[in-house]
Amino acid sequence: MKLFRRKHAADLQTEAANDQSLKRALGPVNLTSLGIGGIIGAGIFVLTGHAAAQYAGPAIVLSFIFAGIACAFAGLCYAEFASMIPLSGSAYTYGYATLGELIAWIIGWDLILEYLFAASTVAVGWSGYIVSFLKDFGITIPTAFTSAPYNHVTPPDAQWWNLWQLFVKGWVSTGAVLNVPAMVVVGVITILLIIGIKESANFNNFIVALKLAVILTFIGVGAFYINKVNWHPFVPPADANGNFGWHGVIHGAAVIFFAYIGFDAVSTAAQEARRPQRDMPIGLLGSLGICTILYIAVSLVLTGIVNYSQLNVSAPIALAINSLGSSLAWLTYFIKIGAIAGLSSVILVLLLGQSRIFYTMSKDGLLPPVFSAVHPKFRTPWLAQLLTGAVAMLIAGLFPIGLLGELVSIGTLLAFAIVCAGVLVLRCTDPHIARPFRTPAVWLIAPLGVGSCIFLMAAGLPADTWARLIVWMAIGFVIYFAYGHRHSKLHKGLAGKNR
Ligand code: ALA
Repeated sequence: MKLFRRKHAADLQTEAANDQSLKRALGPVNLTSLGIGGIIGAGIFVLTGHAAAQYAGPAIVLSFIFAGIACAFAGLCYAEFASMIPLSGSAYTYGYATLGELIAWIIGWDLILEYLFAASTVAVGWSGYIVSFLKDFGITIPTAFTSAPYNHVTPPDAQWWNLWQLFVKGWVSTGAVLNVPAMVVVGVITILLIIGIKESANFNNFIVALKLAVILTFIGVGAFYINKVNWHPFVPPADANGNFGWHGVIHGAAVIFFAYIGFDAVSTAAQEARRPQRDMPIGLLGSLGICTILYIAVSLVLTGIVNYSQLNVSAPIALAINSLGSSLAWLTYFIKIGAIAGLSSVILVLLLGQSRIFYTMSKDGLLPPVFSAVHPKFRTPWLAQLLTGAVAMLIAGLFPIGLLGELVSIGTLLAFAIVCAGVLVLRCTDPHIARPFRTPAVWLIAPLGVGSCIFLMAAGLPADTWARLIVWMAIGFVIYFAYGHRHSKLHKGLAGKNR
């Protein structure tokens, strides 16, 4: 059936080997750094405190372990695909090779939530940190220019099917005009990304080093101030609102799942990797492993220094250091600088990933050719990057962080679940194709990956987020049938073979 026409994995391998239009400049260190650059951001610097204070208490450490395990399942499946089909479309391309064009389109459209919307979400978090940092030095930017003009309050009695309540009603004016710092940071990073992949990777390496230094200093210094009393009870008993207890640990895992998003962005740089077959698994799994260990250590130290009930603030790590006395004030500034720089690299990696996915979708004919135009001098997909940046700027300027964050999580979990399922499908349909990296115990790991992602979506995210996902997908269907379906190169017989 045409809607489920697939590309041969072998054709995709040839395509990956032949397409030299993007510059192959990245080695294993750059790729791992790209992963860390995309992972450590608003999740650990902002959301950890909120999730510990409201849902899990000190057991936020367990939430990090659970979410990390779900990501490890997905990471192993990504590693198999990324080393086998090193094209910059990431999960979208893997979907094309396994589940067919319609599902590939669904994943590609869904990935916009993970990349473009996440970049905007992190930009809003960045804006909060820079405003607070400048304030420490007596520079105040008027609130009218540092927050979203509207907030959306879903009525408590809203039904998930009531689109009027979920999308039209409930917008309240905040009195602000635009979130200008959030827009500026997206704009500047977009320019950098247009100029070049190597320049962007060098900038990213520098920031990752700074970000790691901040995190390691926090762990190293903070460990001496842990008061074990703060860890008791480790899993606080469930309260009347259904928070804390084991349910709270799961809810916490769904919230801080956001902190892990970004490792898969390594796979979008596959066409810019020098030896993708070897280095993709290193970049994906290396960055995920390093960040998981750091997250567990940070959350242990954080909840050991300060009682979890005090952590519901926008800069919990800085708060923890502040609580240790004025002799460590220097560390508070260092942490804020690290967070500002760290969030910038997350935005960079996510915007980079989005443009590469658009580039690949456009090469397949599912998006207009402008998305695959490569700049003659910089050799980057500059128009896709520019359009991505412009839309991300608009979203960052206009929308509040809460609304964006949940959409990002549900979109990413869906993509991870489909990738895990896709690995199994391809093991059945193309068992003999060369797989430089094979997911170990795939018949266990991949189903566990699908199950844990769906579990986090169902148990951790509210019905209105599901409704927004469904509407987003419906818009995608309209675009596919209006454009992509008719312009698909596979459909026209111009790329690969139809199955
Ligand atoms: N994982 C990224 C962050 O926490 C998206 O900011």
